[in-house]
Amino acid sequence: HPDLRDLLLSRIRDVPDYPRPGVVFKDITPLLADPAAFGALIDALAALCARHGADKIVGLEARGFILAAPAAAKAEIGFVPIRKAGKLPGATLSQAYELEYGTAEIEVHPEAFAPGDRVLVIDDVLATGGTAEASLSLIRRAGAEVAGVAVLLELAFLDGRSRLTPALAGAPLEALVVV
Ligand code: PRP
Ligand code: MG
Repeated sequence: HPDLRDLLLSRIRDVPDYPRPGVVFKDITPLLADPAAFGALIDALAALCARHGADKIVGLEARGFILAAPAAAKAEIGFVPIRKAGKLPGATLSQAYELEYGTAEIEVHPEAFAPGDRVLVIDDVLATGGTAEASLSLIRRAGAEVAGVAVLLELAFLDGRSRLTPALAGAPLEALVVV
């Protein structure tokens, strides 16, 4: 919806040269502080859950949690955190992935999913797609199905969509704002 897209984009602030010179950071904190914009975002994410028949929402630590948890509550389905390595207390599945510099690792409690659960992954930003790609691997390894990936903001110039496409295996990638 173009009006929603414009509202959300108007509340995302460009911060030049953060975290490194030459990088323009997309700061969503003004959006989070505006109840009309934040409420409209959560309503849109919850509607995507219904449209894609999701039984669970996964949020990606850390910024994905801010969006995914209220969307799950609004959609009246369960929330499952995918956390950075070493933060979950129980038995975990782990997935390493490539960053611009070095590697990262994320984890999930596999018993958080029932066999065949349809899972929607929510994160704030799709950049290179590495984080989302790793999350889809964890969900499938845990025995669940991927209902889709939903992000507030897709950075099209990094072409994370192409990287993610094989892992999506036909599931949708929904971006509310594409820049
Ligand atoms: C950021 C962002 C996404 C990810 C996107 O998270 O929140 O999760 O990078 O990048 P990618 O598509 O290239 O994987 P980050 O790990 O920087 O930190 P956070 O804990 O603040 O969410
Ligand atoms: Mg993140």
